[in-house]
Amino acid sequence: MIDQHSDKHIDYQHINYQHIDYQHIDVTPHNGAMGAEINAGRLDVPLAPAVIAEIRRAWLAYGLIVFRDQSLSTPGYARFCEQFGALDSYPFATPTDEHARVYPIIKEPDQAFNFGGGWHTDTSYLVQPPAATCLMALEVPAHGGDTLFANTTAAFEAMSPAMQALTQDLNGVFTPALVHGNSGAFAHLRQGSASTPDAEEVALATQRVEHPIIRTHPQTGRKAIYAAAGHCECLADMTVEESQPILNYLQTQATKPEFTTRLSWQPGTLAMWDNRCVFHYALNDYPGQRREMRRVTLRGEVPV
Ligand code: SIN
Repeated sequence: MIDQHSDKHIDYQHINYQHIDYQHIDVTPHNGAMGAEINAGRLDVPLAPAVIAEIRRAWLAYGLIVFRDQSLSTPGYARFCEQFGALDSYPFATPTDEHARVYPIIKEPDQAFNFGGGWHTDTSYLVQPPAATCLMALEVPAHGGDTLFANTTAAFEAMSPAMQALTQDLNGVFTPALVHGNSGAFAHLRQGSASTPDAEEVALATQRVEHPIIRTHPQTGRKAIYAAAGHCECLADMTVEESQPILNYLQTQATKPEFTTRLSWQPGTLAMWDNRCVFHYALNDYPGQRREMRRVTLRGEVPV
């Protein structure tokens, strides 16, 4: 997220994120846990390096930043996101015709499957999962369809030193099959297609990758819970039964109300969250209504 960009010189680990003086953007925190509304003006024009640097600092400080009332074309949305990092591909969906790295996330009124409907951090089953996810709302239900977010840095830092020590050097086995279920993954992958998944798709949906269950943030240096029930099957070298008490504990801890916030979308809302230290959960409480989003992920690092 910092590679070729203008604020490379910033010593992220020594910034006191709660006391940043913003000169170029307005920042309104959601609550005591995480999240902030950002007013940086129109996002469909190139942003000055100083504005980009402040948005990035707010993103690192709050884990989730939210821009309202934006009007971006699909290529314009991609251009906005590219100012914060390289755009990634997403293995389980077909991109829009307008841009190969922008993915439609659509739930039709008669559709039961809800993309992202469980606590998770995006594609943590990849060797190099994305640093950020950006989501822009095009059409939202009259009510419902909110997304929940959890600050897993705060959750880890609130654990006892003994529990931190017990968990912080363990690896987990991450897989896409859990959150989607094999049929769920394929249902999404094959949305609108009657054909059965091929061998490559089956391999993708059932692959297993090891990552630390507590991850150290590459910019802030802070530790965060990384294993969410949605994608972490078990601890490395342990059975599922042996792993569950620890994984269940981490999930419960990470998603305690005091570490969460809730985002109500409007058409033109654009959110960007930090997948290294934030879980999220798309609510499925709007049967009979339609929701259409555009999703972009920004390339991340191998978790350590
Ligand atoms: C996701 O899990 O990336 C999608 C979240 C949402 O649609 O609210």
